[in-house]
Amino acid sequence: MVVLSSLAVLLGLFHVYSVAQAAIVTVDLTSDFKKNNASAKWAPGHPVEWRSSADEIMFEWPLQLQYAGRFTGHVTNDAKFLIMANESYAQVVSLDTRKSVSTFALNYLSRGEGRMTSIYVGNGYDVIISGVDYTINPATEATVTFRLSANGTIAGPQTVLPGSFTNVDKELLHRKSRFVLTNNEGKNVAYVHDLNNPNTTLTLSGHRDAIISAAWAPYGRYIATAAWDGIMKLWDEVTGKELYSFPSTNAQNWLTRFSPDGQYFLYTAGNGDGRGVYIYNMDDLNLTTGAPPPEPWLIKADNWVRSGEFSPQGDYVAFASYGLVEVYRTSDRQLVQRWAAEDKTGFEVTDITWIAGSKRLAFRAYGGLEMYDFETNLKYRWGPGEMDHFDAGVAEGSTFTPLNRGWIGGRESDSTFKFWKYPA
Ligand SMILES: *[C@@H]1O[C@H](CO)[C@@H](O)[C@H](O)[C@H]1NC(C)=O
Ligand SMILES: *[C@@H]1O[C@H](CO)[C@@H](O)[C@H](O)[C@H]1NC(C)=O
Ligand SMILES: *[C@@H]1O[C@H](CO)[C@@H](O)[C@H](O)[C@H]1NC(C)=O
Ligand SMILES: *[C@@H]1O[C@H](CO)[C@@H](O)[C@H](O)[C@H]1NC(C)=O
Ligand SMILES: *[C@@H]1O[C@H](CO)[C@@H](O)[C@H](O)[C@H]1NC(C)=O
Repeated sequence: MVVLSSLAVLLGLFHVYSVAQAAIVTVDLTSDFKKNNASAKWAPGHPVEWRSSADEIMFEWPLQLQYAGRFTGHVTNDAKFLIMANESYAQVVSLDTRKSVSTFALNYLSRGEGRMTSIYVGNGYDVIISGVDYTINPATEATVTFRLSANGTIAGPQTVLPGSFTNVDKELLHRKSRFVLTNNEGKNVAYVHDLNNPNTTLTLSGHRDAIISAAWAPYGRYIATAAWDGIMKLWDEVTGKELYSFPSTNAQNWLTRFSPDGQYFLYTAGNGDGRGVYIYNMDDLNLTTGAPPPEPWLIKADNWVRSGEFSPQGDYVAFASYGLVEVYRTSDRQLVQRWAAEDKTGFEVTDITWIAGSKRLAFRAYGGLEMYDFETNLKYRWGPGEMDHFDAGVAEGSTFTPLNRGWIGGRESDSTFKFWKYPA
């Protein structure tokens, strides 16, 4: 053993290996992903420490950020541009040249240390940026929309709209131009805006506390809203009429999602006894009579759940909480995977992202990006080293898989954007 390791040190092998192993931060688990009862193994080269791989590409904000939490960004669907924004400026970076192509001031007031998020969709490069400040109650918020031209410069005016959205909601646009913004400034309404006609805004009114998440039914005419009043509602997306109101969870509701086929939807409740994920089958609801729904499929949780996604085929649902990821099969409601950290309260797992159908699942945990492959039983991590400054509990992360570039990455817990070569 001694001979072997000193030989390895002499050859410079063991030394490099042991330093890399000691320096990267990983999560201690009580339960890992499994296949045929065998725990997942690290993929070759993993876990990968920031700045240790030739495959890493990093983008930083040009100046020192005063409030890291207000920094965010989004990759266009064609993966040509990354748009980064802080509370007052946006910067467009070309992912071809990896250089900044334009920087401009956002047309709304800086409102202190809140949070911010954004979305950019389609060849029209429609950009929506919201800033919400939850450090005061009621929160303050502002949203701008604008369009980028094909070369990444701003085209046309910035429109300021009432309402905001948060990182909880990832798919904002519906039928290319319509989107929902919630109101957190005490009005307890949501607004349905149209990018092509700001004059046609609908107001969804009926909740008694802040609405925090909204989703469009993929088929059908419904908008779902989850609010801190413990109620979840379905609305007619054309008329704005309330169609259905679910029994109170007696907790702050945080998230709502439809399955991609429109068959199921879920909402999550954060605090109190009602904590967990509530799942309904649309067939069990009578939207004509609004009759009370049957008991939901309730998955209890010990802590907040603010990230959850149905797989593209709707065959699985994955959700994340503090130190926890669980995957359930929708057909028989069986728990099929459980990733659980020893630390059950110290950091929130966010950004559940299905990749390649239901083959892979990515999420953000303890300052890093993790991915699991269900077929190979291999796991991946790209994350900070012990000497790095990062925010372990950051809920601001965002994950993009511009697979036409062969990349995976996004907004990191040190307020940069990092991408790595996507493992085949
Ligand atoms: C799975 O592994 C655990 C722990 O090693 C063991 O106790 C259990 O019997 C195994 N289950 C099956 C079905 O093999
Ligand atoms: C936002 O970015 C601009 C431009 O880089 C900078 O002047 C400003 O200080 C930044 N704001 C914060 C809060 O970091
Ligand atoms: C970018 O495109 C816009 C709109 O087509 C054009 O007006 C502008 O000159 C272009 N800018 C550069 C730097 O190519
Ligand atoms: C929206 O209303 C304003 C003021 O009435 C009007 O000038 C503008 O043309 C309208 N926009 C559209 C797209 O209808
Ligand atoms: C809803 O309830 C009404 C009245 O009981 C009934 O006529 C209708 O068939 C129901 N619709 C569905 C989809 O169950």
